[in-house]
Amino acid sequence: MSLPNLGRLILCRRRLPSLVIVLLLILGAFSVIAWRGFAFVPGHTASSSFCAADLGSALDRQGHSEQVLWRGCLIASDTQRALGRFVPPGNHAPACLGCHDGTTAPGFALLWSRFPYRDAKGKIHDLAGAIREEIKRRYDGVPPNRADNVVTALYFYAAAKAGQAGLRYAVDTPQQPLFEQPDLASDDCRRKFDTLGWPRGDNAPAVVAGCNLVTETPRHVSAPIARAWGSRLSCQSCHLEAGDRVNAASLAHGAVVLPHMLTSLTQPVRFDRRVLMCFARSLNWLDFGLDAPEINPINIYANWLAQRHDLPIGVLPPGRGMPLVYDAQGRGVSFLAGENVYRERCQACHGPNGLGGRVEVGGRRPPPLAGPESFTAAATTSDPFRMAGFIHANMPPGASLEQPQLSHQEALDIAAYLTRLGRPADFTRANALDVFFNYLWINGVTKIAVWLGDPDADSRRGGGR
Ligand code: HEC
Ligand code: HEC
Ligand code: HEC
Repeated sequence: MSLPNLGRLILCRRRLPSLVIVLLLILGAFSVIAWRGFAFVPGHTASSSFCAADLGSALDRQGHSEQVLWRGCLIASDTQRALGRFVPPGNHAPACLGCHDGTTAPGFALLWSRFPYRDAKGKIHDLAGAIREEIKRRYDGVPPNRADNVVTALYFYAAAKAGQAGLRYAVDTPQQPLFEQPDLASDDCRRKFDTLGWPRGDNAPAVVAGCNLVTETPRHVSAPIARAWGSRLSCQSCHLEAGDRVNAASLAHGAVVLPHMLTSLTQPVRFDRRVLMCFARSLNWLDFGLDAPEINPINIYANWLAQRHDLPIGVLPPGRGMPLVYDAQGRGVSFLAGENVYRERCQACHGPNGLGGRVEVGGRRPPPLAGPESFTAAATTSDPFRMAGFIHANMPPGASLEQPQLSHQEALDIAAYLTRLGRPADFTRANALDVFFNYLWINGVTKIAVWLGDPDADSRRGGGR
Protein backbone atom coordinates (compact mmCIF):
# COMPACT_ATOMS: atom_id res chain seq x y z
CA MET A 1 0.00 0.00 0.00
CA SER A 2 1.43 3.39 -0.95
CA LEU A 3 1.86 6.09 1.70
CA PRO A 4 -0.82 8.51 0.45
CA ASN A 5 -3.28 5.60 0.43
CA LEU A 6 -2.39 4.76 4.02
CA GLY A 7 -2.92 8.38 5.06
CA ARG A 8 -6.30 8.42 3.37
CA LEU A 9 -7.30 5.22 5.16
CA ILE A 10 -6.41 6.58 8.60
CA LEU A 11 -7.89 10.00 8.09
CA CYS A 12 -11.03 8.93 6.21
CA ARG A 13 -14.04 10.57 7.64
CA ARG A 14 -15.56 7.48 9.21
CA ARG A 15 -12.50 6.74 11.36
CA LEU A 16 -11.57 10.31 12.26
CA PRO A 17 -13.97 10.73 15.26
CA SER A 18 -12.81 7.54 16.94
CA LEU A 19 -9.18 8.53 16.39
CA VAL A 20 -9.83 11.90 18.04
CA ILE A 21 -11.52 10.22 21.00
CA VAL A 22 -8.58 7.82 21.49
CA LEU A 23 -6.13 10.74 21.36
CA LEU A 24 -8.19 12.70 23.89
CA LEU A 25 -8.29 9.67 26.22
CA ILE A 26 -4.49 9.29 26.05
CA LEU A 27 -4.04 13.01 26.69
CA GLY A 28 -6.45 12.79 29.63
CA ALA A 29 -4.56 9.85 31.15
CA PHE A 30 -1.27 11.72 30.83
CA SER A 31 -2.62 14.83 32.52
CA VAL A 32 -3.99 12.75 35.41
CA ILE A 33 -0.56 11.13 35.84
CA ALA A 34 1.18 14.50 35.63
CA TRP A 35 -1.24 16.05 38.08
CA ARG A 36 -0.93 13.25 40.61
CA GLY A 37 2.84 13.21 40.22
CA PHE A 38 3.53 16.89 40.65
CA ALA A 39 0.79 18.23 42.89
CA PHE A 40 2.44 16.97 46.06
CA VAL A 41 3.29 19.54 48.72
CA PRO A 42 3.83 18.06 52.20
CA GLY A 43 1.38 19.37 54.73
CA HIS A 44 -0.83 21.04 52.14
CA THR A 45 -2.23 18.60 49.61
CA ALA A 46 -2.70 15.82 52.11
CA SER A 47 -4.86 16.80 55.03
CA SER A 48 -2.85 15.48 57.94
CA SER A 49 -1.89 18.11 60.45
CA PHE A 50 -0.76 15.18 62.60
CA CYS A 51 2.01 14.22 60.16
CA ALA A 52 3.11 17.81 59.61
CA ALA A 53 3.67 18.14 63.37
CA ASP A 54 4.95 14.59 63.85
CA LEU A 55 7.61 14.73 61.17
CA GLY A 56 8.43 18.41 61.59
CA SER A 57 12.05 19.03 60.72
CA ALA A 58 12.53 15.45 59.48
CA LEU A 59 10.70 16.52 56.31
CA ASP A 60 13.34 19.15 55.51
CA ARG A 61 16.32 16.99 56.40
CA GLN A 62 15.37 14.08 54.20
CA GLY A 63 15.81 15.97 50.93
CA HIS A 64 14.04 14.23 48.10
CA SER A 65 12.57 11.50 50.24
CA GLU A 66 9.91 13.65 51.92
CA GLN A 67 7.12 12.15 49.79
CA VAL A 68 7.99 8.63 50.89
CA LEU A 69 8.31 9.78 54.48
CA TRP A 70 4.99 11.56 54.35
CA ARG A 71 3.29 8.50 52.98
CA GLY A 72 4.83 6.39 55.75
CA CYS A 73 3.37 8.72 58.36
CA LEU A 74 -0.06 8.62 56.70
CA ILE A 75 -0.01 4.83 56.71
CA ALA A 76 1.08 4.65 60.36
CA SER A 77 -1.47 7.22 61.56
CA ASP A 78 -4.42 6.55 59.25
CA THR A 79 -3.79 2.91 58.41
CA GLN A 80 -7.20 1.77 57.11
CA ARG A 81 -7.36 4.51 54.52
CA ALA A 82 -3.68 4.80 53.54
CA LEU A 83 -3.07 1.08 53.17
CA GLY A 84 -5.88 0.96 50.64
CA ARG A 85 -6.02 -2.31 48.77
CA PHE A 86 -4.14 -4.26 51.45
CA VAL A 87 -6.87 -3.90 54.09
CA PRO A 88 -10.34 -5.39 53.57
CA PRO A 89 -13.15 -2.78 53.70
CA GLY A 90 -15.01 -2.71 57.00
CA ASN A 91 -11.98 -3.58 59.12
CA HIS A 92 -11.96 -1.50 62.30
CA ALA A 93 -8.59 -2.24 63.91
CA PRO A 94 -6.81 0.86 65.27
CA ALA A 95 -4.09 2.58 63.20
CA CYS A 96 -0.50 1.32 63.68
CA LEU A 97 0.18 4.31 65.92
CA GLY A 98 -3.01 3.57 67.89
CA CYS A 99 -1.13 0.61 69.39
CA HIS A 100 2.48 1.58 68.69
CA ASP A 101 2.39 4.61 70.97
CA GLY A 102 5.18 3.46 73.25
CA THR A 103 2.87 1.98 75.89
CA THR A 104 0.60 -0.67 74.33
CA ALA A 105 3.35 -1.57 71.86
CA PRO A 106 6.85 -0.16 71.19
CA GLY A 107 7.01 3.08 69.20
CA PHE A 108 8.33 3.03 65.63
CA ALA A 109 11.65 4.64 66.62
CA LEU A 110 12.40 1.79 69.01
CA LEU A 111 11.29 -0.83 66.49
CA TRP A 112 13.71 0.62 63.94
CA SER A 113 16.66 0.48 66.34
CA ARG A 114 16.05 -3.22 67.03
CA PHE A 115 15.58 -4.53 63.49
CA PRO A 116 16.62 -6.84 61.97
CA TYR A 117 17.18 -9.22 64.88
CA ARG A 118 17.76 -12.88 65.54
CA ASP A 119 15.57 -14.54 68.18
CA ALA A 120 16.66 -17.12 70.75
CA LYS A 121 15.66 -19.94 68.39
CA GLY A 122 17.91 -18.62 65.64
CA LYS A 123 15.19 -17.23 63.37
CA ILE A 124 15.95 -13.82 61.89
CA HIS A 125 13.18 -11.20 61.70
CA ASP A 126 13.39 -8.16 59.48
CA LEU A 127 11.19 -5.10 59.34
CA ALA A 128 9.68 -5.91 55.94
CA GLY A 129 8.65 -9.36 57.15
CA ALA A 130 7.27 -7.97 60.43
CA ILE A 131 5.23 -5.31 58.60
CA ARG A 132 3.79 -8.00 56.32
CA GLU A 133 2.89 -10.10 59.37
CA GLU A 134 1.24 -7.18 61.17
CA ILE A 135 -0.89 -6.26 58.17
CA LYS A 136 -2.12 -9.84 58.05
CA ARG A 137 -2.54 -10.25 61.80
CA ARG A 138 -4.01 -6.91 62.89
CA TYR A 139 -6.04 -6.00 59.82
CA ASP A 140 -6.85 -9.37 58.36
CA GLY A 141 -5.20 -7.91 55.27
CA VAL A 142 -3.22 -9.09 52.28
CA PRO A 143 0.52 -8.92 53.04
CA PRO A 144 2.23 -6.61 50.54
CA ASN A 145 5.33 -7.68 48.63
CA ARG A 146 8.62 -6.98 50.44
CA ALA A 147 9.57 -4.44 47.80
CA ASP A 148 6.18 -2.69 47.89
CA ASN A 149 6.12 1.10 48.28
CA VAL A 150 3.91 0.66 51.34
CA VAL A 151 6.66 -1.26 53.13
CA THR A 152 9.33 1.21 51.97
CA ALA A 153 7.25 4.14 53.21
CA LEU A 154 6.90 2.58 56.68
CA TYR A 155 10.68 1.92 56.63
CA PHE A 156 11.44 5.58 55.95
CA TYR A 157 9.01 6.67 58.63
CA ALA A 158 10.46 4.35 61.28
CA ALA A 159 14.05 5.38 60.41
CA ALA A 160 13.12 9.07 60.58
CA LYS A 161 11.47 8.60 63.97
CA ALA A 162 14.58 6.84 65.29
CA GLY A 163 16.65 9.76 63.95
CA GLN A 164 14.37 12.30 65.62
CA ALA A 165 14.68 10.47 68.91
CA GLY A 166 18.49 10.42 68.59
CA LEU A 167 18.55 6.63 68.99
CA ARG A 168 21.48 4.27 68.37
CA TYR A 169 21.09 0.70 67.16
CA ALA A 170 20.43 -1.81 69.92
CA VAL A 171 22.05 -5.00 68.61
CA ASP A 172 23.56 -6.14 71.88
CA THR A 173 24.12 -4.97 75.46
CA PRO A 174 26.93 -5.60 77.98
CA GLN A 175 24.53 -7.71 80.08
CA GLN A 176 24.12 -10.36 77.41
CA PRO A 177 26.38 -13.43 77.18
CA LEU A 178 29.43 -13.27 74.92
CA PHE A 179 29.65 -15.16 71.64
CA GLU A 180 31.17 -18.48 72.54
CA GLN A 181 32.64 -19.84 69.31
CA PRO A 182 35.39 -17.47 68.19
CA ASP A 183 36.78 -19.95 65.65
CA LEU A 184 33.61 -19.57 63.58
CA ALA A 185 34.75 -16.05 62.70
CA SER A 186 37.10 -15.40 59.76
CA ASP A 187 40.61 -14.13 60.54
CA ASP A 188 39.69 -10.58 59.58
CA CYS A 189 36.55 -10.71 61.69
CA ARG A 190 38.44 -12.06 64.67
CA ARG A 191 40.79 -9.09 64.41
CA LYS A 192 37.83 -6.73 64.16
CA PHE A 193 36.09 -8.24 67.19
CA ASP A 194 39.31 -8.19 69.20
CA THR A 195 39.47 -4.41 68.71
CA LEU A 196 35.78 -3.51 68.99
CA GLY A 197 34.77 -6.18 71.53
CA TRP A 198 33.04 -9.47 70.71
CA PRO A 199 29.29 -9.42 69.97
CA ARG A 200 26.84 -10.57 72.63
CA GLY A 201 23.42 -12.13 73.01
CA ASP A 202 20.99 -13.74 70.56
CA ASN A 203 22.21 -11.50 67.73
CA ALA A 204 25.87 -12.49 68.11
CA PRO A 205 25.82 -15.45 65.68
CA ALA A 206 24.20 -13.21 63.05
CA VAL A 207 26.82 -10.50 63.62
CA VAL A 208 29.56 -13.08 63.05
CA ALA A 209 27.81 -14.54 59.99
CA GLY A 210 27.43 -11.02 58.55
CA CYS A 211 31.09 -10.23 59.15
CA ASN A 212 32.14 -13.51 57.51
CA LEU A 213 30.04 -12.65 54.47
CA VAL A 214 31.67 -9.23 54.21
CA THR A 215 35.23 -10.48 54.60
CA GLU A 216 35.08 -13.78 52.65
CA THR A 217 32.09 -13.29 50.41
CA PRO A 218 32.58 -16.08 47.85
CA ARG A 219 33.09 -18.64 50.60
CA HIS A 220 29.98 -17.83 52.59
CA VAL A 221 27.42 -16.81 50.00
CA SER A 222 24.60 -19.34 49.73
CA ALA A 223 23.77 -19.19 46.02
CA PRO A 224 25.93 -21.70 44.13
CA ILE A 225 25.36 -19.74 40.92
CA ALA A 226 27.45 -16.92 42.37
CA ARG A 227 30.42 -19.19 42.90
CA ALA A 228 30.23 -20.61 39.40
CA TRP A 229 30.91 -17.28 37.73
CA GLY A 230 31.06 -13.70 38.85
CA SER A 231 33.86 -11.86 40.50
CA ARG A 232 36.31 -13.11 43.07
CA LEU A 233 35.98 -9.95 45.13
CA SER A 234 34.65 -9.81 48.65
CA CYS A 235 32.68 -6.90 50.04
CA GLN A 236 35.79 -5.92 51.96
CA SER A 237 37.84 -5.63 48.75
CA CYS A 238 36.25 -2.17 48.58
CA HIS A 239 34.57 -1.82 52.00
CA LEU A 240 37.99 -2.11 53.60
CA GLU A 241 38.79 -3.46 57.06
CA ALA A 242 35.72 -5.68 57.33
CA GLY A 243 33.49 -2.83 56.15
CA ASP A 244 34.62 -0.58 58.97
CA ARG A 245 36.87 2.08 57.47
CA VAL A 246 36.06 5.75 56.84
CA ASN A 247 36.43 6.97 53.25
CA ALA A 248 36.05 3.38 52.07
CA ALA A 249 32.23 3.22 52.11
CA SER A 250 31.98 2.17 55.76
CA LEU A 251 29.06 -0.20 56.25
CA ALA A 252 28.50 1.31 59.71
CA HIS A 253 27.84 4.60 57.94
CA GLY A 254 25.52 2.87 55.48
CA ALA A 255 23.54 1.52 58.43
CA VAL A 256 22.80 4.99 59.76
CA VAL A 257 22.21 6.87 56.48
CA LEU A 258 20.02 4.27 54.74
CA PRO A 259 17.23 4.26 53.71
CA HIS A 260 17.65 7.34 51.59
CA MET A 261 16.89 8.66 48.16
CA LEU A 262 19.61 7.65 45.73
CA THR A 263 19.74 10.65 43.44
CA SER A 264 21.35 8.76 40.58
CA LEU A 265 18.36 6.42 40.48
CA THR A 266 15.74 8.86 41.84
CA GLN A 267 14.35 6.01 43.85
CA PRO A 268 14.24 5.24 47.54
CA VAL A 269 16.97 2.76 48.51
CA ARG A 270 16.74 0.59 51.60
CA PHE A 271 19.71 -1.21 53.15
CA ASP A 272 18.53 -4.55 51.76
CA ARG A 273 18.24 -3.15 48.25
CA ARG A 274 21.67 -1.49 48.50
CA VAL A 275 23.29 -4.80 49.42
CA LEU A 276 21.68 -6.43 46.40
CA MET A 277 22.92 -3.61 44.19
CA CYS A 278 26.50 -4.24 45.29
CA PHE A 279 26.06 -8.00 44.81
CA ALA A 280 24.89 -7.48 41.24
CA ARG A 281 27.10 -4.58 40.15
CA SER A 282 30.22 -4.73 42.27
CA LEU A 283 30.50 -8.51 42.52
CA ASN A 284 29.01 -9.24 39.10
CA TRP A 285 26.70 -11.78 40.66
CA LEU A 286 22.95 -11.77 40.25
CA ASP A 287 20.35 -9.76 42.07
CA PHE A 288 19.44 -12.50 44.53
CA GLY A 289 16.13 -10.84 45.50
CA LEU A 290 15.04 -9.29 48.78
CA ASP A 291 14.52 -12.72 50.34
CA ALA A 292 18.21 -13.63 50.01
CA PRO A 293 19.54 -15.09 53.29
CA GLU A 294 22.73 -12.98 53.00
CA ILE A 295 20.98 -9.66 53.53
CA ASN A 296 19.86 -9.79 57.17
CA PRO A 297 23.18 -10.94 58.70
CA ILE A 298 25.03 -8.23 56.75
CA ASN A 299 22.47 -5.68 57.95
CA ILE A 300 22.74 -6.84 61.57
CA TYR A 301 26.54 -6.71 61.36
CA ALA A 302 26.44 -3.17 59.91
CA ASN A 303 24.03 -2.04 62.65
CA TRP A 304 26.32 -3.63 65.22
CA LEU A 305 29.32 -1.70 63.84
CA ALA A 306 27.29 1.52 64.01
CA GLN A 307 26.34 0.75 67.61
CA ARG A 308 29.96 0.08 68.58
CA HIS A 309 30.99 3.42 67.07
CA ASP A 310 28.08 5.11 68.84
CA LEU A 311 26.75 6.59 65.59
CA PRO A 312 23.35 8.27 65.95
CA ILE A 313 20.77 6.98 63.45
CA GLY A 314 20.01 9.42 60.62
CA VAL A 315 23.04 11.67 61.13
CA LEU A 316 25.48 11.83 58.21
CA PRO A 317 28.89 10.75 59.60
CA PRO A 318 32.06 12.43 58.28
CA GLY A 319 33.97 10.21 55.84
CA ARG A 320 30.87 8.39 54.62
CA GLY A 321 31.02 6.68 51.22
CA MET A 322 33.92 7.06 48.82
CA PRO A 323 35.58 10.45 48.47
CA LEU A 324 35.66 12.12 45.06
CA VAL A 325 38.79 13.39 43.34
CA TYR A 326 38.35 15.54 40.27
CA ASP A 327 40.97 18.27 40.22
CA ALA A 328 43.62 17.26 37.70
CA GLN A 329 46.46 19.77 37.78
CA GLY A 330 45.96 21.60 34.52
CA ARG A 331 47.26 19.01 32.10
CA GLY A 332 44.13 16.85 32.11
CA VAL A 333 44.07 13.11 32.68
CA SER A 334 46.39 10.65 30.96
CA PHE A 335 45.89 6.91 31.01
CA LEU A 336 49.43 6.44 29.65
CA ALA A 337 50.85 8.25 32.66
CA GLY A 338 48.44 6.19 34.75
CA GLU A 339 49.78 2.95 33.35
CA ASN A 340 53.30 3.97 34.34
CA VAL A 341 52.35 4.86 37.90
CA TYR A 342 50.34 1.64 38.09
CA ARG A 343 53.36 -0.46 37.13
CA GLU A 344 55.48 1.28 39.72
CA ARG A 345 53.13 1.47 42.66
CA CYS A 346 50.39 -1.13 42.24
CA GLN A 347 51.41 -3.94 39.91
CA ALA A 348 53.45 -5.85 42.50
CA CYS A 349 50.22 -6.49 44.40
CA HIS A 350 47.40 -6.24 41.88
CA GLY A 351 49.19 -7.96 39.05
CA PRO A 352 49.83 -6.90 35.47
CA ASN A 353 46.81 -5.35 33.72
CA GLY A 354 45.03 -5.18 37.07
CA LEU A 355 43.97 -8.80 36.76
CA GLY A 356 44.61 -9.64 40.40
CA GLY A 357 47.59 -10.62 42.50
CA ARG A 358 49.22 -14.00 42.95
CA VAL A 359 51.03 -13.17 46.16
CA GLU A 360 49.13 -13.00 49.40
CA VAL A 361 49.43 -9.74 51.30
CA GLY A 362 48.43 -9.84 54.94
CA GLY A 363 46.70 -13.21 54.46
CA ARG A 364 44.69 -12.32 51.35
CA ARG A 365 45.20 -11.90 47.64
CA PRO A 366 44.92 -8.35 46.33
CA PRO A 367 41.70 -8.37 44.27
CA PRO A 368 41.51 -7.92 40.48
CA LEU A 369 40.86 -4.31 39.48
CA ALA A 370 39.90 -5.23 35.92
CA GLY A 371 39.09 -8.23 33.77
CA PRO A 372 36.46 -10.96 34.08
CA GLU A 373 36.76 -11.44 37.82
CA SER A 374 36.47 -7.81 38.81
CA PHE A 375 33.50 -5.47 39.38
CA THR A 376 31.21 -4.52 36.51
CA ALA A 377 30.98 -1.36 34.46
CA ALA A 378 27.79 -0.52 36.40
CA ALA A 379 29.56 -0.42 39.78
CA THR A 380 30.07 2.97 41.40
CA THR A 381 33.77 2.12 41.56
CA SER A 382 34.00 2.16 37.76
CA ASP A 383 33.26 5.87 37.82
CA PRO A 384 36.83 7.21 37.35
CA PHE A 385 36.35 10.08 39.83
CA ARG A 386 35.03 7.75 42.51
CA MET A 387 37.79 5.24 41.83
CA ALA A 388 40.38 8.01 41.98
CA GLY A 389 38.94 9.08 45.33
CA PHE A 390 39.12 5.55 46.68
CA ILE A 391 42.70 5.09 45.44
CA HIS A 392 43.84 8.45 46.74
CA ALA A 393 42.43 7.84 50.23
CA ASN A 394 43.26 4.13 50.57
CA MET A 395 45.95 2.83 48.21
CA PRO A 396 48.65 1.58 48.45
CA PRO A 397 47.64 0.13 51.83
CA GLY A 398 48.79 2.47 54.58
CA ALA A 399 47.55 5.57 52.76
CA SER A 400 44.70 7.63 54.21
CA LEU A 401 42.84 10.78 53.25
CA GLU A 402 45.02 12.74 55.69
CA GLN A 403 48.24 11.08 54.55
CA PRO A 404 47.82 10.02 50.94
CA GLN A 405 50.70 8.42 49.07
CA LEU A 406 49.65 9.63 45.63
CA SER A 407 48.77 13.07 44.30
CA HIS A 408 45.27 13.75 42.98
CA GLN A 409 46.78 13.79 39.51
CA GLU A 410 48.35 10.35 39.90
CA ALA A 411 45.13 8.89 41.32
CA LEU A 412 43.12 10.30 38.40
CA ASP A 413 45.63 8.99 35.86
CA ILE A 414 45.57 5.49 37.37
CA ALA A 415 41.76 5.53 37.48
CA ALA A 416 41.71 6.56 33.82
CA TYR A 417 44.00 3.64 33.02
CA LEU A 418 42.04 1.11 35.08
CA THR A 419 38.60 2.15 33.84
CA ARG A 420 39.89 1.74 30.30
CA LEU A 421 40.71 -1.95 30.82
CA GLY A 422 38.06 -4.57 30.10
CA ARG A 423 35.55 -5.55 32.75
CA PRO A 424 32.12 -7.24 32.81
CA ALA A 425 29.37 -5.18 31.23
CA ASP A 426 26.40 -3.74 33.08
CA PHE A 427 24.20 -6.79 33.44
CA THR A 428 22.06 -5.63 36.32
CA ARG A 429 18.88 -6.10 34.32
CA ALA A 430 19.99 -9.08 32.30
CA ASN A 431 19.04 -12.71 32.73
CA ALA A 432 21.37 -15.52 33.76
CA LEU A 433 22.00 -16.54 30.15
CA ASP A 434 23.32 -13.09 29.22
CA VAL A 435 25.59 -13.12 32.25
CA PHE A 436 26.86 -16.55 31.27
CA PHE A 437 27.69 -15.56 27.70
CA ASN A 438 29.36 -12.41 28.95
CA TYR A 439 31.47 -14.56 31.25
CA LEU A 440 32.49 -16.84 28.37
CA TRP A 441 33.29 -13.84 26.19
CA ILE A 442 35.53 -12.01 28.64
CA ASN A 443 37.23 -15.20 29.79
CA GLY A 444 37.75 -16.18 26.16
CA VAL A 445 39.47 -12.90 25.40
CA THR A 446 41.79 -13.35 28.38
CA LYS A 447 42.60 -16.95 27.39
CA ILE A 448 43.45 -15.91 23.83
CA ALA A 449 45.71 -13.18 25.17
CA VAL A 450 47.56 -15.79 27.26
CA TRP A 451 47.81 -18.09 24.28
CA LEU A 452 49.26 -15.30 22.14
CA GLY A 453 52.04 -15.09 24.68
CA ASP A 454 51.22 -11.76 26.32
CA PRO A 455 53.23 -12.19 29.57
CA ASP A 456 50.96 -9.68 31.33
CA ALA A 457 47.80 -11.67 30.75
CA ASP A 458 49.35 -14.71 32.35
CA SER A 459 48.91 -13.37 35.86
CA ARG A 460 45.34 -14.47 36.32
CA ARG A 461 46.21 -18.16 36.14
CA GLY A 462 47.12 -17.85 39.81
CA GLY A 463 43.55 -16.65 40.57
CA GLY A 464 40.84 -18.08 42.76
CA ARG A 465 40.93 -17.94 46.48
C1 HEC B 1 -3.93 -3.75 67.87
C2 HEC B 1 -2.66 -3.18 68.16
C3 HEC B 1 -1.63 -3.14 67.03
C4 HEC B 1 -1.78 -2.63 65.79
C5 HEC B 1 -3.00 -2.03 65.14
C6 HEC B 1 -0.49 -2.77 65.14
N1 HEC B 1 0.40 -3.37 65.99
FE1 HEC B 1 2.33 -3.83 65.59
N2 HEC B 1 2.49 -4.79 67.38
C7 HEC B 1 1.56 -4.72 68.37
C8 HEC B 1 2.11 -5.36 69.56
C9 HEC B 1 1.40 -5.51 70.89
C10 HEC B 1 3.41 -5.79 69.21
C11 HEC B 1 4.48 -6.46 70.10
C12 HEC B 1 4.10 -7.84 70.55
C13 HEC B 1 3.87 -8.80 69.43
O1 HEC B 1 4.75 -8.97 68.57
O2 HEC B 1 2.80 -9.42 69.42
C14 HEC B 1 3.62 -5.42 67.83
C15 HEC B 1 4.76 -5.68 67.12
C16 HEC B 1 5.08 -5.07 65.93
C17 HEC B 1 6.36 -5.18 65.27
C18 HEC B 1 7.54 -5.98 65.77
C19 HEC B 1 7.37 -7.43 65.46
C20 HEC B 1 8.55 -8.23 65.93
O3 HEC B 1 8.92 -9.17 65.24
O4 HEC B 1 9.14 -7.88 66.98
C21 HEC B 1 6.28 -4.41 64.15
C22 HEC B 1 7.40 -4.15 63.12
C23 HEC B 1 4.97 -3.85 64.07
N3 HEC B 1 4.26 -4.28 65.17
C24 HEC B 1 4.52 -3.01 63.07
C25 HEC B 1 3.20 -2.61 62.95
C26 HEC B 1 2.70 -1.83 61.83
C27 HEC B 1 3.54 -1.34 60.66
C28 HEC B 1 1.36 -1.65 62.04
C29 HEC B 1 0.39 -0.94 61.13
C30 HEC B 1 0.35 -1.39 59.76
C31 HEC B 1 1.04 -2.30 63.30
N4 HEC B 1 2.17 -2.87 63.82
C32 HEC B 1 -0.22 -2.34 63.86
C33 HEC B 1 0.30 -4.17 68.30
C34 HEC B 1 -0.25 -3.60 67.17
C1 HEC C 1 34.02 -2.98 43.71
C2 HEC C 1 33.86 -2.35 44.97
C3 HEC C 1 32.68 -2.79 45.88
C4 HEC C 1 32.38 -4.05 46.33
C5 HEC C 1 33.10 -5.34 46.03
C6 HEC C 1 31.21 -3.91 47.16
N1 HEC C 1 30.83 -2.59 47.23
FE1 HEC C 1 29.32 -1.83 48.35
N2 HEC C 1 29.74 0.04 47.66
C7 HEC C 1 30.75 0.35 46.77
C8 HEC C 1 30.69 1.76 46.47
C9 HEC C 1 31.62 2.52 45.53
C10 HEC C 1 29.60 2.29 47.20
C11 HEC C 1 29.07 3.72 47.19
C12 HEC C 1 29.77 4.58 48.17
C13 HEC C 1 29.30 6.02 48.04
O1 HEC C 1 28.08 6.23 48.01
O2 HEC C 1 30.15 6.91 47.99
C14 HEC C 1 29.03 1.17 47.94
C15 HEC C 1 27.97 1.30 48.82
C16 HEC C 1 27.48 0.29 49.62
C17 HEC C 1 26.50 0.46 50.66
C18 HEC C 1 25.86 1.79 51.06
C19 HEC C 1 26.83 2.59 51.89
C20 HEC C 1 26.38 3.99 52.12
O3 HEC C 1 27.04 4.69 52.90
O4 HEC C 1 25.37 4.42 51.55
C21 HEC C 1 26.29 -0.77 51.21
C22 HEC C 1 25.35 -1.09 52.36
C23 HEC C 1 27.12 -1.71 50.51
N3 HEC C 1 27.84 -1.03 49.55
C24 HEC C 1 27.19 -3.07 50.77
C25 HEC C 1 28.04 -3.95 50.10
C26 HEC C 1 28.07 -5.36 50.37
C27 HEC C 1 27.23 -6.06 51.41
C28 HEC C 1 29.00 -5.89 49.53
C29 HEC C 1 29.38 -7.36 49.39
C30 HEC C 1 28.30 -8.25 49.05
C31 HEC C 1 29.57 -4.82 48.74
N4 HEC C 1 28.94 -3.66 49.11
C32 HEC C 1 30.57 -4.96 47.81
C33 HEC C 1 31.69 -0.52 46.25
C34 HEC C 1 31.70 -1.88 46.45
C1 HEC D 1 50.62 -4.10 49.34
C2 HEC D 1 49.75 -4.54 48.32
C3 HEC D 1 48.91 -3.49 47.58
C4 HEC D 1 49.39 -2.43 46.87
C5 HEC D 1 50.82 -1.97 46.64
C6 HEC D 1 48.22 -1.79 46.30
N1 HEC D 1 47.08 -2.45 46.69
FE1 HEC D 1 45.18 -2.03 46.13
N2 HEC D 1 44.46 -3.46 47.35
C7 HEC D 1 45.24 -4.34 48.08
C8 HEC D 1 44.38 -5.22 48.85
C9 HEC D 1 44.84 -6.33 49.77
C10 HEC D 1 43.05 -4.82 48.54
C11 HEC D 1 41.78 -5.43 49.09
C12 HEC D 1 41.52 -5.02 50.48
C13 HEC D 1 41.16 -6.16 51.35
O1 HEC D 1 40.88 -7.26 50.86
O2 HEC D 1 41.18 -5.94 52.55
C14 HEC D 1 43.15 -3.73 47.59
C15 HEC D 1 42.04 -3.10 47.02
C16 HEC D 1 42.12 -2.18 45.98
C17 HEC D 1 40.99 -1.65 45.26
C18 HEC D 1 39.52 -1.95 45.49
C19 HEC D 1 39.15 -3.35 45.12
C20 HEC D 1 38.92 -3.57 43.66
O3 HEC D 1 38.86 -4.75 43.22
O4 HEC D 1 38.78 -2.60 42.92
C21 HEC D 1 41.49 -0.78 44.32
C22 HEC D 1 40.71 0.03 43.30
C23 HEC D 1 42.93 -0.77 44.47
N3 HEC D 1 43.28 -1.64 45.49
C24 HEC D 1 43.78 -0.01 43.71
C25 HEC D 1 45.14 0.08 43.94
C26 HEC D 1 46.01 0.98 43.23
C27 HEC D 1 45.58 1.91 42.11
C28 HEC D 1 47.26 0.81 43.73
C29 HEC D 1 48.52 1.56 43.36
C30 HEC D 1 48.52 2.95 43.67
C31 HEC D 1 47.19 -0.22 44.75
N4 HEC D 1 45.88 -0.63 44.85
C32 HEC D 1 48.26 -0.69 45.47
C33 HEC D 1 46.61 -4.42 48.09
C34 HEC D 1 47.46 -3.50 47.48
